[in-house]
Amino acid sequence: MSTLRYSEIAGVGHYVPERVVTNADIEQLMETTDAWIQERTGIKERRWFTEGVDTTANMGAKAARRALEAAGLTPDDVQLIVFATLSPDYFFPGSGVLLQRELGMKEATPAFDVRNQCSGFIYSLSMADQFIKTGMYDTVLVVGSEIHSSGLDKSTRGRAVSVIFGDGAGAVVLRPSTQEGHGILSTHLHSQGEHAEELIVKEPGSNREGRVDYAIAHEPDMYPYMNGQNVFKHAVVRFPQVIKEALDQNGMQPQDIDMLIPHQANLRITQYVQQKMGLSDDKIFSNIQRYGNTTAASIPIALSEAVQEGKVKRGDLVCLAAFGSGFTWASALIKW
Ligand code: UT7
Repeated sequence: MSTLRYSEIAGVGHYVPERVVTNADIEQLMETTDAWIQERTGIKERRWFTEGVDTTANMGAKAARRALEAAGLTPDDVQLIVFATLSPDYFFPGSGVLLQRELGMKEATPAFDVRNQCSGFIYSLSMADQFIKTGMYDTVLVVGSEIHSSGLDKSTRGRAVSVIFGDGAGAVVLRPSTQEGHGILSTHLHSQGEHAEELIVKEPGSNREGRVDYAIAHEPDMYPYMNGQNVFKHAVVRFPQVIKEALDQNGMQPQDIDMLIPHQANLRITQYVQQKMGLSDDKIFSNIQRYGNTTAASIPIALSEAVQEGKVKRGDLVCLAAFGSGFTWASALIKW
């Protein structure tokens, strides 16, 4: 009889584009202020890609190389790629295969693309975890990478959305745990499609004749739309709920969490969740101030920085949680 395997995070890494865009830079593009952006979101600056240098796939590959290096592995050790993004290089094929090419993998390594926006990284992590638990693969690369800046409405019309999003990539390598009770304890995934249009890029959609002509005629629909207040209201309910779900499943309490790494949606949402869960400042990680909201990349970038800064150590209980477009939301509880 086989025993259940756990997957642990053997390495983590991130990459962000070099170009820093401050709130003062954004003030030059649209009617907004540094004070408004900081007060409503906590964001001071974000990274924007450079055309011809950064791509969703190559940023993911840079983050992946760092994660593999941290794990003492090479691209050829990877048996499966799971790539989370809402901003793929192409309409199709997905960015996973481009990363496979970018990393120069000798093996015909399989690659999935996961389209779950802000929850994409945890959805991908959960998927990777199942492949390791069943024994199908031993080494799985999970990547979150986004280029938002090329698709934002940078006029005043788009200001409620465009000041929030940033570009970047993060990656983790999963391996079977070498120590019992270490690694991913559980993952929890949810969706509620009735709110699909509350945070959306509509065009170019495929359900109309003349897709591209239609998209050009409906130019505003090619930019992200968000009903910010409604998304906020749902986020502050779903984050605590899905964290509690993970704790309950493992017979744990909020005070057992050593580090909560939430999707970096808005500093006000993070602070609300912190207060609701009763966590002290040293038990929650925020870097939205420097990167904005990088959707599927935000959790692995934050995790990578937390590890680099020594804020996540072996034996710690780490909780990941996300909420976003779909709506989708998710959590993962990890014994580091
Ligand atoms: O990552 C996926 C999940 N996403 C989230 O969780 C985001 C959730 N939502 C939010 O974070 C917030 O709703 C926002 C940060 C997007 C917006 O903050 P808000 O406090 O909800 O502002 P609002 O949209 O209600 O707008 C308040 C006012 C409006 O002006 P009036 O109508 O009161 O005169 C807006 O026109 O602020 C105005 N406004 C701006 N002013 C300056 C909206 N965007 C800006 C801006 N600069 N960038």
